[in-house]
Amino acid sequence: MRVLVVGGGAREHALGWKLLADDPSLDLISAPGNPGLAELGRCEAIAATDIAGLAALARREEVAFTIVGPEGPLDAGIVDHFRSNGLAVFGPSKAAARIETSKRFAKELMLAANVPTAGARTFTSVAAATAEAERLGAPVVIKASGLAAGKGVIVATSIAEAREAIESMLEGNVFGEAGHEVLVEEFMSGEEISVFALTDGTHVLPMIAAQDHKRIGEGDTGPNTGGMGAYAPVSIATGGIAAQTMDRVFLPTLAALRAAGSTFTGLLYAGLMLTREGQKVVEFNCRFGDPETEALLPLMATGLLEPMRAIANGDSIAGAPPIEWRAGAAVTTVVAAEGYPGSVRTGEEISLPPDEGGVMVFHAGTKRNVEGALVTAGGRVFAITALGDSLAAAQKLSASHASRVQFDGRQYRRDIGWRDLARQSDRA
Ligand code: AMP
Ligand code: GLY
Repeated sequence: MRVLVVGGGAREHALGWKLLADDPSLDLISAPGNPGLAELGRCEAIAATDIAGLAALARREEVAFTIVGPEGPLDAGIVDHFRSNGLAVFGPSKAAARIETSKRFAKELMLAANVPTAGARTFTSVAAATAEAERLGAPVVIKASGLAAGKGVIVATSIAEAREAIESMLEGNVFGEAGHEVLVEEFMSGEEISVFALTDGTHVLPMIAAQDHKRIGEGDTGPNTGGMGAYAPVSIATGGIAAQTMDRVFLPTLAALRAAGSTFTGLLYAGLMLTREGQKVVEFNCRFGDPETEALLPLMATGLLEPMRAIANGDSIAGAPPIEWRAGAAVTTVVAAEGYPGSVRTGEEISLPPDEGGVMVFHAGTKRNVEGALVTAGGRVFAITALGDSLAAAQKLSASHASRVQFDGRQYRRDIGWRDLARQSDRA
C-alpha cells in the first residue's frame, strides 16, 4: 500500500514512522518531507500548500490515501479538493476545520451545544470589546478569531493590557485578517491536557491524554513556543475524565458539526483545562498536535494505519477495536535552535549520537545542504522521544539523548513531564 503524508515536521515524521511500524511493507511518500522522512521513503519537493500539485502527485502515484499534517492546507481546502477529485484523504473539510481556524465558530458551536468552555463574545469594534473586558475584569483573555500561528491569544492581567491587545488586533493589524475579529473571553485556571480522537464524523476512537510544554524555559517559564516537549500518559487525566471528555466534549461537538452540515472527519484535538468546576475546552485543533503526536504514537500498542485508512475512505469506524497502549511512559524533548522562539540562525551543522534503544529521533527543522550534510533549518530542530518503564526513566533517557545532539546554540528543556513527576513524588 502507498500512502502520502503532507507536511515536513516532527509530527509528520512520527506519523510516517508509526505507519511503517504498523506495516513495514508500506510505501511512504512525503511532501515536502524532511531528512528524517527521507529515511523512511521518498520525499517529493511539493509544498504542503500546493494543493493542486499534491493532488496530481496522489493521482500519479496511485496512493491509497493521503494524510494531511498541518492546519494550513486544511484551512485552504485540501480535503475538499481531494474528495472532489475522488482521492481518499485523512483530514477535515475546510468547513469542518473551522473548529480550529475560526475561534468564533468554535466558541458559538460549543456554547450552543453545551460543551463546557469559557464564556466569550466576539467583537469587531475596539470600544465594544474593551467594554466587555472591563465588564469581565482582569485577568481576561483576548483572542484573534482566525489562525495566528499559535500566537493570537493574550491572557491580559490588567484592563490596560487587554485594551492594548484589542487595539493591536483590530486596528494595528498585528495578525492581519485573523485578528479583525476578536473574542473577549473569561479567564480560566487549571492544568492543561491535550486529548486526541480519531473520528469518522460520528464514532470516536480516543487516545490517552498528553501534556504539552509551551514555554521555552524549565519550570514553564519564559515566552511561549510551538511546544518544547510533551509526555504521556498524564496521571491527572483519569478514566473518569476520559469518559466525560467523550460524553461532554467529543460526542456533542461532532453532533453539532454534523448538524451544521460540516461533518468532521480525521483527528479532532481537544485542548482541555482541568478547572475546579471540571474540564473545559480551551481550544480545538483540526489535526494532530505537535509535539504530543511524537510522544503518543510510540506508546500505541495497536495500529494507526487501519483506522486512518477507514476514515480517509469515508468508512465507519463503529466496529474498530479501541486503541491499546504500552505500559510505561513516553517523553518527547524538543531540541531547538539558539534564539527560538525568536528569530534563529539556520544552516548549523548537526551531529547526531548513535541510535539508542527506546529512543526515536524525529526531525523537525533539518535539511541536507549542498554537500549532503545535515544542518538546522528552523526553530524546532528535533523531537526526541524516549520510552521508559516510568515517566522518570523516559525523561532521563529523552534528555540524555537530546544532550548528545550537537549543533551550535542548541537548547532544550531537561524537565519535560515535571508536573507529573512532582505529583508522583507528592504521592510517594
Ligand atoms: P489557544 O491558542 O486557544 O490554545 O490558547 C493558547 C493558550 O492560552 C492556552 O494554551 C492557554 O494556556 C491560554 N488560554 C486560552 N484561553 C484561556 C482562558 N480562557 N483562560 C486562561 N487561559 C487561556
Ligand atoms: N501542541 C499544540 C498544537 O499542536 O497546537
